[in-house]
Amino acid sequence: MPSRPKKIPAHKDLEEILVSEAQIKRRLATLAAEIDKTYAGQELTVIAIINGALLFTADLIRLINRPVRLDCVRVSSYRNSTTAVTEPQLRSNLTLDIQNRHVLLIDDILDTGKTLAMVVDLISGMNPASVRTCVLLDKRGRREVAFEADFAGFEIPDRFVVGYGLDFAERYRNLPCIGVLKPALQNPPEWA
Ligand code: IMP
Ligand code: MG
Repeated sequence: MPSRPKKIPAHKDLEEILVSEAQIKRRLATLAAEIDKTYAGQELTVIAIINGALLFTADLIRLINRPVRLDCVRVSSYRNSTTAVTEPQLRSNLTLDIQNRHVLLIDDILDTGKTLAMVVDLISGMNPASVRTCVLLDKRGRREVAFEADFAGFEIPDRFVVGYGLDFAERYRNLPCIGVLKPALQNPPEWA
């Protein structure tokens, strides 16, 4: 099947595609290679921040040629709006023991930095052998706390995006690409 031109939305609710399905696929292969190299000879414990990192993590770990243990934490800070409304809060905790383990924490997007800073603090307190972070998207311009990811897929401008795990009011996570919603669809009252 021919790949879609970048500017033609894959979904009627998107006004623009920022990262296409093909671009995601290509970048995941190089990210996995960087991760393999960093963890040569070691086992990783991947911790995905769900729901956002679900699709990214599932695709990425299948490209990693190292032994991987997988766990998830749930953090929420967004309600049904396109701006953060609460400080990030842990809603469900780890089940694996991570003491003396090499932890790779995965999130969908690094925005203000508050979520990853909070979870890294939490994990660091559990005496892992190491903690690194990996994000699919990095909105550098939005940082409120100093934070850099060890691995980052794409740098994107300060726009609210959906797709490939990222949601607006829990919708659009299943889109294969990452794009910007049409303005009229942001904050519809019926999506409480
Ligand atoms: P931070 O704590 O501000 O870095 O926010 C990280 C979390 O905010 C991510 O895990 C996402 O769930 C959410 N988020 C930030 N920007 C976006 C966006 O553009 N679209 C969808 N979710 C976003
Ligand atoms: Mg979200």
